[in-house]
Amino acid sequence: MDLTYRPRRLRRSSALRSLVREHILHPSDFIYPLFVHEGSEVQPIGAMPGASRWDLESLIGEVQRAWNLGIRCVVLFPKINESLKSEDGAECFNEKGLIPNAIRILKKEIPQMTIMTDVALDPYSSDGHDGIVSSDGIVLNDETIEFLCRQAVVQAQAGADLIGPSDMMDGRVGAIREALDDEGFEDIGIISYSAKYSSAYYGPFREALDSAPRLISSKPIPKDKSTYQMDPANAREAITEAQLDEQEGADILMVKPGLAYLDIIYRLREESQLPIAAYNVSGEYSMVKAAVEKGWIDERSVVLETLLSFKRAGSDLILTYHACDAAKWLNE
Ligand code: PBG
Repeated sequence: MDLTYRPRRLRRSSALRSLVREHILHPSDFIYPLFVHEGSEVQPIGAMPGASRWDLESLIGEVQRAWNLGIRCVVLFPKINESLKSEDGAECFNEKGLIPNAIRILKKEIPQMTIMTDVALDPYSSDGHDGIVSSDGIVLNDETIEFLCRQAVVQAQAGADLIGPSDMMDGRVGAIREALDDEGFEDIGIISYSAKYSSAYYGPFREALDSAPRLISSKPIPKDKSTYQMDPANAREAITEAQLDEQEGADILMVKPGLAYLDIIYRLREESQLPIAAYNVSGEYSMVKAAVEKGWIDERSVVLETLLSFKRAGSDLILTYHACDAAKWLNE
């Protein structure tokens, strides 16, 4: 055949392929999410094989392991004892609470690791919502933001480097920025869950933290988070959310979940010059693990291909429970 272009010319050898490769994963692209609890042992999480709830002592070792593999940021999520949960979630700004304690311990033992936090009420709320639920079942925006600001300041005081509001209340990024600045934390960044969808992919995470919305009294509790998290049908709205967060002072924008929303990552990459993070969420992780356990897919290839897709779509950072495994494979 008389072909001018033969794209296969550049695929002939592994060396040639590496010369023209457009995207490469590095362990430092990953943010490693870790669950912590008050107990004194490492508890496996049923719906997330390979992930655990860490006690504070073992957490240090796990974060050190991540650092040694080249991971440069971890994000902490608390499993709060039932007795500390309340309707308003006020435990979230207890300076002696689980998360501030974990941050202080990690900052003392492994000060070089970047610590990201999650700002929202759900782990602390007896209703299982990210905000305060009124007696008639409305998730209150402005009242919640006051609590989120106090939570963010307590996390910064404990030593957090990046504050991650995941609650999707309107105006929270600006309010948290101001609260941090007022307390002298103008150097502490905000990584905002900007386009966070109301997704069924968070199921295993809610099992890990026992944080799903639930009824415990006669108060009507919304059964899902669709009055604040985004409708999966909407793409343009993600741009609006991201623009608002940027105007309000976010330093990094996030899309969540990741895999079913690669188009949103791509759109935000076109619209913003800020770094973009993708959250490869719990349900995405558990689906891979389940298929691996069945022997249906090859874990290493599927995980690395999936993580690469986030970078190709335009994200700079990837929150993923596969972080340590992937870093190990990349280092081999
Ligand atoms: C809490 C929060 C959630 C996740 C991160 N922060 C759950 C939710 O919004 O219900 C989900 C992460 C995952 O599924 O891996 N606001």
